[in-house]
Amino acid sequence: MSNLIVLGAQWGDEGKGKIVDLFADRFHYVARYQGGHNAGHTVQVGGNKFVLKLLPSGVLHPHVSVVIGNGVVIDPAALLDEIEMLHKAGIETAGRIAISSRAHVIFPFHRLVEKVSENRADRVAIGTTLRGIGPCYEDKIGRRGIRIADLLDENIFDTLYGYLADDKQILARAFKVEGEIHYDEICAKYREYANVLRPYVCDTARLLNSAIRDGKRVLFEGAQGTMLDIDHGTYPFVTSSSAAAGGACTGSGVAPTRIDGIIGVSKAYITRVGSGPFPSEDTGEAGDWIRKAGHEFGSVTGRPRRCGWFDAPLLRYTAMVNGFDTLIVTKLDVLDNLPEIKVCVGYESKGRRVDDMPATNALLAEIAPVYETLPGWAQPTAGITRYGDLPSRARDYVEFLESQTGVEVGCVSTGPDRLHTIVRSGSKLESLLG
Ligand code: IMP
Repeated sequence: MSNLIVLGAQWGDEGKGKIVDLFADRFHYVARYQGGHNAGHTVQVGGNKFVLKLLPSGVLHPHVSVVIGNGVVIDPAALLDEIEMLHKAGIETAGRIAISSRAHVIFPFHRLVEKVSENRADRVAIGTTLRGIGPCYEDKIGRRGIRIADLLDENIFDTLYGYLADDKQILARAFKVEGEIHYDEICAKYREYANVLRPYVCDTARLLNSAIRDGKRVLFEGAQGTMLDIDHGTYPFVTSSSAAAGGACTGSGVAPTRIDGIIGVSKAYITRVGSGPFPSEDTGEAGDWIRKAGHEFGSVTGRPRRCGWFDAPLLRYTAMVNGFDTLIVTKLDVLDNLPEIKVCVGYESKGRRVDDMPATNALLAEIAPVYETLPGWAQPTAGITRYGDLPSRARDYVEFLESQTGVEVGCVSTGPDRLHTIVRSGSKLESLLG
């Protein structure tokens, strides 16, 4: 029985939502382990498009249960909106959503604090999604955060909320936004949320571990991407959680010994939203072209994504950090009409080859990507479902990525719909999926 992790191999937006949705019905549970409603997973089913932010993409399958693990931060308003959206679309959620009692809660003042700190004239903005994610994780690590279990216990909540409100008042004074936070109203609202959320809340580590003991399969769904991981990404231009594969264990309470495979998801090119280093970014015509052809605009914030060429050294790094067994390459069809396609095959700095991923932004800024240019295939691949039906140059491209990254490409996605997917026969991916 395989429990698998699916996660982003780049800076997020790799198309994990579609992939998780596609494989979900082979699993009993799909679990999120980090992040919050900063993530946006777009899933297209038939004519309907769903943007899921907090709920794992598996929720669209009626026989799959979904788990929001302890590593996630939850804005109750956002979560309840999402549940409501599903109900409106006729998707039944009763008994299918479990929320960890140990997940931390986002409050409106987290967003306010973030907005003010992002706007400070004397600092470089990270370009966050302004959803209060970072400030909530700060409170978690600072051991003053409020968890779902605390929210549900009136006595504990009142005391902890009082402490947190005190701290935020000091910050609000420092940032000169006093008076903008209505602490009593927030407190009353969150007491209401507690009652609505109560039926969904449990010890999800126990739930997942007993399910695994009973032979059920769990798919762990990463949000964001490895290069946005708090430890392994392009710090400080990262999100505040452990997006890499290790986070699946800490963020769910399921031990590494229970994980059977790790699947990386990467675009056939690369994008990034927000600020921060991006060695293979193309700020010229080709980058614009990819943005248009790939509809590269943020699903949560609508911001245009920065676009560039597939970065093999970056992929080698994320493959190392995550231990990818297999790679899924999405949006191959976006490159269909390009006469030539560049791939970054190495980094150089001051004329010398750089083999490690630099740890600082200053060093990353000095990097010059070394490109190899491959001929385009200039034929449509959109919607192709068999590897052998891809134009030979498209196959050459996929196999070039495989040889450059050292990871098999087990699957290629050729369009947004579930059906527009090729799982390569004989691949490790095929055997992991069982
Ligand atoms: P935060 O997660 O809102 O704190 O934002 C930190 C950084 O992560 C910013 O550069 C965001 O654009 C980026 N980020 C957060 N969530 C996503 C995502 O789902 N896709 C891509 N980038 C994201």
